[in-house]
Amino acid sequence: MDQNPTAPLPAASTAPGPGVVPEFAPPPAGRPRRRYAVAGTGHRAGMYVAAVTGEHADVAELVAWLDPNPVRIDHYDAQVGHALGANAPARLPRYAPDSLERMIGEQSVDTVIVTSVDRTHAELIDRALRAGADVVVEKPLATDAAGCRRITRAVAETGRDVVMTFNYRYAPRNSTLRRVIADGAVGEVTGIHFEWVLDTRHGADYFRRWHREKANSGGLLVHKASHHFDLVNWWLNDVPTRVYASGGLRFYGDANAAARGMGPRPARGTGAGAGGDPFCLDLRDDPRLDALYLQAERHDGYRRDQDPFAPGITIEDNMSVLVDYAGGATLTYSLNAHSPWEGYQVSVNGTHGRAELLVVERGHLDDDGDPGLDPSAAGGGPGGDPVRPAGHRLVVQRHWRRAEEVAVPDGIGGHGGGDAILLKDVFRRDLRVGTDPLGRAAGYLDGIRAVAVGAAANESMLSGQPVLIDDLRLGVPLAGGVRPEPGDMKG
Ligand SMILES: NC(=O)c1ccc[n+]([C@@H]2O[C@H](COP(=O)([O-])OP(=O)(O)OC[C@H]3O[C@@H](n4cnc5c(N)ncnc54)[C@H](O)[C@@H]3O)[C@@H](O)[C@H]2O)c1
Repeated sequence: MDQNPTAPLPAASTAPGPGVVPEFAPPPAGRPRRRYAVAGTGHRAGMYVAAVTGEHADVAELVAWLDPNPVRIDHYDAQVGHALGANAPARLPRYAPDSLERMIGEQSVDTVIVTSVDRTHAELIDRALRAGADVVVEKPLATDAAGCRRITRAVAETGRDVVMTFNYRYAPRNSTLRRVIADGAVGEVTGIHFEWVLDTRHGADYFRRWHREKANSGGLLVHKASHHFDLVNWWLNDVPTRVYASGGLRFYGDANAAARGMGPRPARGTGAGAGGDPFCLDLRDDPRLDALYLQAERHDGYRRDQDPFAPGITIEDNMSVLVDYAGGATLTYSLNAHSPWEGYQVSVNGTHGRAELLVVERGHLDDDGDPGLDPSAAGGGPGGDPVRPAGHRLVVQRHWRRAEEVAVPDGIGGHGGGDAILLKDVFRRDLRVGTDPLGRAAGYLDGIRAVAVGAAANESMLSGQPVLIDDLRLGVPLAGGVRPEPGDMKG
């Protein structure tokens, strides 16, 4: 199973287009490397560990681990030892979550990379900033409005830096749509329609893991749609003001399974002997899943292979959201987690015409031996689907004109070619030559703007009423701070 998000794309598509990969100066000779600690040594940490020990080893070094589970720390510690050329683990100092402050002090940590369970982000960020470190954090910044408030307070009181790693911005197809909008190709944007579908392999995976409980993840409107709401905020260069949402659990979960007459199911995939059941994940089938989760269970009891039809799910699998923007545009958004194919469609309506982006990350699922959970993480799903081939198409049509296809440059690495470019921006930010005309680098305020929509949507689903973003009292005006001005994005 390909779980490596930095996996290169096939050779034919590895050459990035001009302007996609920013330029960086070499680090000044003799400058000390920045000292990083990783908080949360699960799946996503792997991308950062590989980056710090590989491409960015000249500007960054790993100095400590923080995770409640020693087996997952062992996994990465061995990997770092190997990367350093030793035949043994690196034996970096390791800390439990309640010792975050001690770790930052004892190991002179400059920056904490937060790749832990979503519900822990707000606390870890708050404590890291107050203990004197900067933070790089995976989405979502927080899982609710209270977490956002905690972070805005800590940023205001410490003045420290929080980098939000919104990798989807860096996928060239998404960057190109931003350029099209900023260039005025569709005129002033009046509305945007955005539909995202997760297939029954990747989508089901959210219902096997900690994500299945809203208290852990904020549900998919926070955990997953943070990416999507950030894209819309960034594409429009605008801020959300009012949100209405409707949704429910209609496919996964025990009640739906019983209603569809599915009969008794194993509580977990591993060892169920359920060969041929596409919803069962056996952790033993993939060495990385086995090492990170099955071997680690004895320390925290966490099961990563729960049945998606087992009881206890408190998140939705069908969600529809309506978002008003300060500039006057409206977003209609939907997310479905049990689709037969995976990808997204965006339509941007403007006063001069319309732009449409269609992305197929995996055209179909079958028993072809490709068990990859997230098709975008590995740079695309299986090809060979004549009706719905994996790929993307960006079309712009001005009023009274024929539709024109806009070329999208190739990216590098996973998540639509975004991950590897993002990592350059994270680890070499201060070495960037010139500013990024696409304004891709994101900070905590971008994280707040994205979580604001999901948190408001969650409130709206509970109350049945629209929610004003102002009423969330996030502790900072969303339009505040420096917004990248896309005026100079032409050319
Ligand atoms: N941008 C992307 O494309 C992308 C992709 C995958 C995951 N992510 C994000 O990365 C984060 C981690 O996801 P994952 O898939 O690696 O999950 P995971 O379950 O594999 O790893 C989470 C880790 O956090 C640890 N943890 C739990 N409580 C902790 C605490 N209080 N302090 C420190 N560590 C703690 C767990 O023991 C585990 O090792 C999530 O926030 C997720 O949203 C982002």
